[in-house]
Amino acid sequence: MNKPKRYTITSALPYTNGPIHIGHLAGVYVPADIYARYLRLTGNDVVFIGGSDEHGVPITIKAKNEGVSPQDVVDKYHAIIKKSFEEFGISFDNYSRTSAKVHHETASGFFKTLYDKGCFVEEVTAQLYDEKANQFLADRFVTGTCPKCGNEEAYGDQCEKCGTSLNATDLINPKSALTGNVPTLKKTKHWFLPLEKYEDFLKEWILEGHKKDWKPNVYGQVKSWIDDGLRPRAVTRDLDWGIPVPVPGGEGKVLYVWFDAPIGYISSTKEWAEKKGIDWEPYWKSDDTKLVHFIGKDNIVFHCIIFPAMLKAEGSYILPENVPANEFLNLEGNKLSTSKNWAVWLPEYLKDFPGQQDVLRYALTANAPETKDNDFTWKDFQARNNNELVAIFGNFINRVVVLTQKYYNGIVPEPHEFSVIDEETLAAVKAYPEVISSSIERYRFREAQQELMNLARLGNKYLADEEPWKVIKVDEARTQTIMFVALQIASALATLSEPFLPFTSEKLKNILGLHHNEERSDTLIPSIEKITQKNKSCNEAVSWESISTKNILISAGHKIGAPELLFSKIEDETIQFQLNKLEASKKANEAANKTMEPQKETIAFDDFTKLDMRVGTIIEAEKMPKAKKLLVLKVDTGIDIRTIVSGIAESFTPEEVIGKRVTVLVNLAPRELRGVESQGMILMTETAEGKLVFINPDDPKVANGLPIS
Ligand code: 2FM
Ligand code: ZN
Repeated sequence: MNKPKRYTITSALPYTNGPIHIGHLAGVYVPADIYARYLRLTGNDVVFIGGSDEHGVPITIKAKNEGVSPQDVVDKYHAIIKKSFEEFGISFDNYSRTSAKVHHETASGFFKTLYDKGCFVEEVTAQLYDEKANQFLADRFVTGTCPKCGNEEAYGDQCEKCGTSLNATDLINPKSALTGNVPTLKKTKHWFLPLEKYEDFLKEWILEGHKKDWKPNVYGQVKSWIDDGLRPRAVTRDLDWGIPVPVPGGEGKVLYVWFDAPIGYISSTKEWAEKKGIDWEPYWKSDDTKLVHFIGKDNIVFHCIIFPAMLKAEGSYILPENVPANEFLNLEGNKLSTSKNWAVWLPEYLKDFPGQQDVLRYALTANAPETKDNDFTWKDFQARNNNELVAIFGNFINRVVVLTQKYYNGIVPEPHEFSVIDEETLAAVKAYPEVISSSIERYRFREAQQELMNLARLGNKYLADEEPWKVIKVDEARTQTIMFVALQIASALATLSEPFLPFTSEKLKNILGLHHNEERSDTLIPSIEKITQKNKSCNEAVSWESISTKNILISAGHKIGAPELLFSKIEDETIQFQLNKLEASKKANEAANKTMEPQKETIAFDDFTKLDMRVGTIIEAEKMPKAKKLLVLKVDTGIDIRTIVSGIAESFTPEEVIGKRVTVLVNLAPRELRGVESQGMILMTETAEGKLVFINPDDPKVANGLPIS
């Protein structure tokens, strides 16, 4: 398309059933934010849209498991997720939620339009039903074997292994996620979008129109789905959580979450426009608007086939110009997993690395899964910080600011004659905006960020070669020129770093006294930015464009501020702490997966009542001489104080157990152990790592199914 008049940038609406982790940031939100910030900096009309996806089965399952309502679940996580985005500088112009009234109305209206235009096929079909839960099973309520790749853990709407979009009835050996039951088939009415009717349109629009400009991973997936043949897709569900189906016969049914969620981009835009008092329609209905969806690879089919087919059916909307989906980010060699707690959660990261949002943004972009799955490792994170942010970017800025303060009291010095090296260096700086722009516009954010670092490298090399700290002793005038040139590079870095390192850019602009082009009060600018936007004694602004066009970015006579460290070294212990946390998750998972002993033979209730178990307290403990495993305990059982010999000496010292409250089997026949009569038994269990522990089901190491003895 020709130069767009405006941009609508959307980022996948995260499901609101848990906090977000580094995979979300790396795959979707950091790249989208870099793109949006860059476009704003280069003077474009941009709306960057986000919001919470609050419908769908996983939320209802979570609510059920926690004994709360789905609304409680989404209220809790919407707040947590929104806060994380703000804290990490994701500069949405609007962050909405799909439970908002505007969204219910928009999604409902959209469905109604398609219904009225006769775009749906209404059909009674046999769907999977769980007799025990009294409920139809679709989407994540049912798992089974993927007919395409054989993955045994595919869901009723999608196989996460091969990405295929499925109908629940496609699954081989389906099983209810609610009860584990094998579902039966039961008839029910639904509305289907006949995707096969859009095949020609999709072929022309994507396969012919976007072969060159879409990422090969996205294009390849879409082509393979289209080549496999498209089929009708149900867009309603038998569920009680979601947007009610607004047409006759729709009672008790809701819109399929993947029908309503992408419409959330439109409703969030409406909400934003309403707040600003402007018209939302050009952002969605005008041919000179460029619409770009940022998503992860598991969302490709929905954004490249189903949503475009919906938009086409509706008829008045534009289609996405690009869908630069990323592959997946792994963590220390394993797939990120919420259920296995194999993740770096954003709220936890901030607790452990306060104020270091840019370090994570940087490491994730440097290692972004743009063309293939990539691995996040804590060692790489540490190296990116210590060897790149601290040693290159931070070091250059620190030297420039410290020397300017030291030699000139913070006043930018007047340059004298430029040498060839100076001229070449200043010319090289001028080339950077275009180089970085070109990478960003092709969605190559890793490459763009590398170029930014190359500019910092250029600055470091310039100082190292010109050695102002030596020249100052012999040539005052030359030193002024060197520092003037170095300050130009620092100023360019302050602006060019903004899309990638917004907090650092802000700090740097403050140090250099460079003010902003405009104040954005209507968006989610993190508080650090808001504070620093005020109260500045600055007289210069460095726009993206001016770096290429102006000879002077920060002029002689301008006063800069005091030095402040932009980044600090991350020590080995800090990294080890994170690795230990992951190790603990791994152990807990192993414990949970340990093969359980089968259940023993059934006993009669009378047999059970023969056991006399009491709560007791260990009041004395000592080692049994010459016995590695045994402790001799004195236990207050409430009935008496008695001696119990217990085989726990390899897991506990005597001091550790004194005062412990325990469960005691008091009517076990006494027996003699090493000459001491033991008058009962303390109930224990053994964790996966082979450590004996007292019975406390709330202890995370005590997994379900561990035998008590
Ligand atoms: O995969 C997910 O987390 C979905 N909630 C993404 C939805 S994107 C859009 F359609 F809203
Ligand atoms: Zn599969």
